[in-house]
Amino acid sequence: MTLIIDAARRSVRLDPRDPAFFGDPYPAYAAIRAAAPAFFWDDYGLWCFAPHRDVSALLRDKRFGRQILHVMSREALGWPAPKDHLAPFDALERHSILELEPPEHTRLRGLVNRAFVSRRIETLGPRIAALAHEQINAFGRRGSADLIADFAAPIPVAVIADLIGVPGEMGPQMLDWSHRMVAMYQFGVTRAVEESAAEAARAFAGFMRAHARARRSDLRDDLISQLLRAESDGGRLSEDELVTTCILLLNAGHEATVHAIGNGVKAMLEHHVDAESAFAGEASRAATVEEMLRLDAPLHLFARYALEDVEFAGVRFKKGEKIGLLLGAANRDPDRFPRPDAFDARRDPNPHLAFGAGIHFCVGAPLARLEMATALPILFARLPGLRLVETPQYRDAYHFHGLEALRVTWG
Ligand code: HEM
Repeated sequence: MTLIIDAARRSVRLDPRDPAFFGDPYPAYAAIRAAAPAFFWDDYGLWCFAPHRDVSALLRDKRFGRQILHVMSREALGWPAPKDHLAPFDALERHSILELEPPEHTRLRGLVNRAFVSRRIETLGPRIAALAHEQINAFGRRGSADLIADFAAPIPVAVIADLIGVPGEMGPQMLDWSHRMVAMYQFGVTRAVEESAAEAARAFAGFMRAHARARRSDLRDDLISQLLRAESDGGRLSEDELVTTCILLLNAGHEATVHAIGNGVKAMLEHHVDAESAFAGEASRAATVEEMLRLDAPLHLFARYALEDVEFAGVRFKKGEKIGLLLGAANRDPDRFPRPDAFDARRDPNPHLAFGAGIHFCVGAPLARLEMATALPILFARLPGLRLVETPQYRDAYHFHGLEALRVTWG
């Protein structure tokens, strides 16, 4: 791995597509944090922050936001005009909770939050358990499996489809649309990736719009019905917002969870964590899940814009400047976590930032936690002697930190 740190200039050269880096970013994070905790990442052209203290503060800092176009024009930012061929993708982004700031964010987030309150999420436990058993029944007799394709991928998409109120048979199609859309968040996006994402966005939006219209006269106890009620109830939600919100939830609802499950199982196996005691009782299960999320979070880099001229950690930012927050690095900060590279299933406190913090804190966190705390104990209990058959490789998508495959055997 080529890592060049210029501590005096506080700059770093490090290719996010270098397999040695995205395969194990933690040694690079440790070296950078020690030499230049706030640094200009040349390859991204962004000031980035690695310490827990800074990342946590910046996520909560109202002088920074996910969006900038509500306070500055494209011209003032020096941005080129939007690309015509990306129009269907941009149309979805425009109404995405993740890309909004208050007051729009507050209104939409309030509507979505109601569907994710813990009480409601907890009722999904039996469904998640049944799905976990179903998957294991399907591959169990083979004696080996790829736990990404055979276990981690199918469960979250089925759960989120149920919760939103989309037919389960749409699972594979939605996975395809979602993968093509999230490819846009990778480093070095090509024209082909853009066209594929735009096409997926157009098809996904078309499907959601038609599905929502059909459901208007057939309301049930799911999120789409809840949003449809809000739409008709004094126009608190437009149809575009409804379509975008469902798509965002469907995408966000599984992309990260798949890799949280994969990374978590890998970490348990590599660190030889005793599954029986780690998953004994609700409190241990919860603590083990938090430690998995801390130790190898599936999302590593989130951006924010300075909403005004501001100084932070001795760096001056101009209004409109973009910064990067390294969640994966913050989660291994020795100043916050003793023995940061160890898997401590009893770690307490564990204020990791895998779900972010502040107003954009992950709305799906209770669901992701329940999926992991339910499915993983079943996996380890049903497959005693679970072990890796090869060293798992991470995908070439630096900030979506997840595995290509997780090949295991047992018995
Ligand atoms: C382990 C799995 C997951 C991880 C690690 C994760 C991580 C995150 C992070 C870090 C953010 C904040 C982004 C930022 O501050 O810029 C976020 C936001 C969000 N997540 Fe998750 N997420 C997970 C699962 C889910 C699930 C299951 C859902 C939906 C069912 C979901 C829906 C969302 C939404 C809608 C937002 C935007 C919230 C807002 O902007 O107010 N996530 N997630």
